[in-house]
Amino acid sequence: MYDYKNNEDIEKILVDAESIGKRVKELALQIDKDYADKRLVMVGILKGSFIFFGDLVRNLTIPAEIEFMKVSSYGSGTVSSGELKVSLDIAREDLSECDLLVVEDIIDSGKTLSKLVPYLAKRARSVRTCTLLDKPDRREVDLSTDYCGFVIPDEFVVGYGLDYGEKYRTLPDVCVLSPKVYS
Ligand code: PRP
Repeated sequence: MYDYKNNEDIEKILVDAESIGKRVKELALQIDKDYADKRLVMVGILKGSFIFFGDLVRNLTIPAEIEFMKVSSYGSGTVSSGELKVSLDIAREDLSECDLLVVEDIIDSGKTLSKLVPYLAKRARSVRTCTLLDKPDRREVDLSTDYCGFVIPDEFVVGYGLDYGEKYRTLPDVCVLSPKVYS
């Protein structure tokens, strides 16, 4: 167990590992029910979702297929004029009978998902979204999510997959980063 109290980079724990584990089980239960008669394909968005994704799929009891994507958004904030950069795409050609559940670690401005969902919706039978964390105060585009772990305030968070400069992803809790690290 890491000692966050003696880690000067970490200000506090925002969501502890136990609460995350409990919430992940609840989300998996809901997904189990909603996708019982569907062909569920879980799509993890790299890299931030990797731990949440792993925990979530291990709590599912229904069959699920696994895919990963790496995407980022740039350009202006609107869906129509923004750009989506896809560095890693779902390799299989035919998704027409698949029900995709896109798994994110965090929704911030909302730009990434607002571009990714229409991109996938052209290819798949259905597309829904699941995020561990939602920061509505930071939203720049109108976007809601189908499954959400925790709504959090506008603080810089790391851990449980989330990074700052590729550090802190392996921390077991979602933590608030000390402003002195990035200011
Ligand atoms: C983060 C996060 C989402 C996106 C959310 O990814 O994982 O994909 O940003 O931000 P938005 O709502 O403002 O679009 P990031 O680009 O930091 O990459 P990473 O997951 O590899 O750390």
